[in-house]
Amino acid sequence: MKTALITGITGQDGSYLTELLLSKGYLVHGVIRRSSSFNTGRLDAVYQDPHVEAARLCLHYGDLSDSSMLASLIRRIEPQEIYHLGAQSHVRVSFDMPEYTADVSGLSCIRLLEAIRDAKVACRFYQASSSEMFGSSPPPQNENTPFAPRSPYAIAKLHAYWTTLNYREAYGMYAVNGILFNHESPRRGPTFVTRKITRAVAKIVAGRQKHLYLGNLDAKRDWGYAPDYVEAMWLMLQQDAPEDYVVATGESHTVREFLEAAFALVNLKSEDYVRIDPRYYRPTEVDSLLGDAAKARHKLGWAPRTTFGELVRIMVEADLKAEGVLLAKG
Ligand code: NAP
Ligand code: GDD
Repeated sequence: MKTALITGITGQDGSYLTELLLSKGYLVHGVIRRSSSFNTGRLDAVYQDPHVEAARLCLHYGDLSDSSMLASLIRRIEPQEIYHLGAQSHVRVSFDMPEYTADVSGLSCIRLLEAIRDAKVACRFYQASSSEMFGSSPPPQNENTPFAPRSPYAIAKLHAYWTTLNYREAYGMYAVNGILFNHESPRRGPTFVTRKITRAVAKIVAGRQKHLYLGNLDAKRDWGYAPDYVEAMWLMLQQDAPEDYVVATGESHTVREFLEAAFALVNLKSEDYVRIDPRYYRPTEVDSLLGDAAKARHKLGWAPRTTFGELVRIMVEADLKAEGVLLAKG
């Protein structure tokens, strides 16, 4: 049985990756933050009572700012694979908390790689890098596109990106960057734009919300479906040699297009409900992301399975269901 450690296991990607690894027979360890309320909701479907001897999901309290905890955990469980998904992952929030973001989304990568080195375990390492690092570089973006970060989040992620590359070159470690473009799902955090829209659609239909306040509707994103993307993460750690990969759909849409598609599913017009609130503008914006995932397609055999239209429908339907409303088929 292979052993994996996932940071950010309670997040969107962490929960889907946990399901994938458990289905492949892994023993999965995850780092969770101590919180005054439960933060394991996304893991409910796969949660296992730790008192059961054969449990294959083990959760450990910890924080990405705590090197000694991370190091002792790695020494103790000796994972063969580490998926470093934990981060302060909200771009807008990174302008409000730049130092914290640099620490948790940037320096945490060094903490983990140093812990692996120190423990002398043969461990493969995945770093959750981001298309946000391309920033103002014009689309399409691939592994050779220059980085031009536009947020403290992107700068933190670049620190981690280069650290991963450096540890691979300097110490011969199997350490890779997955440069993932935006990926969404019904488990997406509610303050990211897609989920904010689909939740609002459902609440408006249910009569519980009147308006939806948004920022820049002209930004373009390459949106995929999170369960498809965690498969690419796993594939990256199963290769003969460690390399970095872009993961994307190759299709780009504006926020406005997502908005119109979501409202159209419930036969409403977005302009009747949407209001622009400048508080959601970013001091510096990433205008256009469109990924070229040819390398992942050829070398990993990976391709997205879910279209833009299907993604919008999956998310709207899930939020309608949560509000107790069913969407008519067709
Ligand atoms: P997410 O839903 O925001 O999950 C982030 C995870 O990190 C959560 O489990 C969170 O714990 C944990 N975390 C945050 N701060 C922490 C700290 N100080 N110590 C320990 N854990 C901490 O993010 P996601 O969408 O799953 O994304 C996964 C990773 O991929 C992130 O690194 C993100 O930056 C990166 N990424 C995401 C996308 C995307 O489109 N989703 C694209 C490219 C890269 P709580 O649950 O307690 O908050
Ligand atoms: N969050 C948010 N809220 N974004 C809005 C809003 C709003 O009310 N109105 C417009 N937007 C625009 C943002 O300005 C941005 O251009 C776009 O919608 C997408 O914003 P987010 O959904 O917050 O995602 P992101 O692209 O900034 O970042 C996500 O993708 C990155 C990969 O490119 C996050 O998941 C990052 O962690 C990830 O690395």
